[in-house]
Amino acid sequence: MIREFHHISLRDRNSFGVDQQAARLVEFETPDDLRELFAHGVPSRWMVLSGGNNILFTQDYDGVLVTPVARGISMLRQERDSVFIRVEAGVEWDELVEWAVEHDLWGLENLSLIPGKAGAAPVQNIGAYGAEAADTIRRVEMFCVETATMLTLDAPHCGFGYRESVFKHTLKGRVIITALEMELSRTPRPRLGYGDVEREVEARGGATLRNIREAVCAIRRSKLPDPTVLGNAGSFFKNPVVEAPVAEKLLARYPDMPHYPAPDGRVKLAAGWLIDRAGLKGRREGNVGVHERQALVLVNYGGATGGEVIAFARKVQHEVLEKFGITIDTEVNLL
Ligand code: EPU
Repeated sequence: MIREFHHISLRDRNSFGVDQQAARLVEFETPDDLRELFAHGVPSRWMVLSGGNNILFTQDYDGVLVTPVARGISMLRQERDSVFIRVEAGVEWDELVEWAVEHDLWGLENLSLIPGKAGAAPVQNIGAYGAEAADTIRRVEMFCVETATMLTLDAPHCGFGYRESVFKHTLKGRVIITALEMELSRTPRPRLGYGDVEREVEARGGATLRNIREAVCAIRRSKLPDPTVLGNAGSFFKNPVVEAPVAEKLLARYPDMPHYPAPDGRVKLAAGWLIDRAGLKGRREGNVGVHERQALVLVNYGGATGGEVIAFARKVQHEVLEKFGITIDTEVNLL
């Protein structure tokens, strides 16, 4: 069933907590709801607003926001040690991770506590601690607004990369993700190689699913602000990927600079480190600031407008460019 709102405040629908308005917002459950919504053509301005965890409204939105609310998780089939599940777009991501851990299914535990809904996971291919959504997503079900029909896209056609997918590019503004098919494993597959994960897991008694989930939650809680307490959208910037000679030059000057080889021969740098070393960690201007414990995250200390946040973000980008000659792009969607 559709639920419809007009001139609605978005303050509780975006994790930054900025108080912009939308002209119209529609919550949907089923593909039939979407057929009904688009029966009279495609509105001139519309977009999906999922959990609002990766978006910054810099002004009021004068179009239609479409929000998935269906929250079903079901087992589809088992093949050897794989279990295929179907997850509706409105499921809270972390509820899905908890469900998988309870059912003794491996694959999602490193992605514990990432805020947002399942339907948004493939869009930016959410990732953390050496895992990403693309490791387990096998198919994406979606409603095509141009043809008003349901489509299914297999993972190889989803264009997954580091915080990338076709949903951010060719399919942007053309489809609404309604469900995911995912492949989880009954066989233990611990991934402990990233940062402090192994140490935190060992401290809890070894690599069980539950211990990995708890270790990841503890690490995240120690570094990342809780959006229900302090408005934020997780990493505000993407880690920049640069040509190898650019990284080498910087490393000659800053030998302790974190750097990770990318599959294409380029080098991924840590935007958090760059911002930190530019002296911006903990910097606050008015109601906006760089988080004290993770420089990749910008926070709303309360009452910040989207315009204030973006003006501050531009300053951060500018100072990093001045100091290191590196452009850091926003990871958060700007509207
Ligand atoms: N660093 C600093 N200062 C900081 C932050 C980081 O020096 O303020 C250094 C760290 O010491 C480390 C390096 O930068 O050497 C990388 O930091 P970290 O391991 O914390 O990860 P990240 O690159 O800052 C990425 C994701 C996070 C994800 C973590 C863990 C992006 C844009 N961000 O952050 O994702 O949780 O790795 O896997 O890729 C998100 O997308 O919202 C998010 C939080």
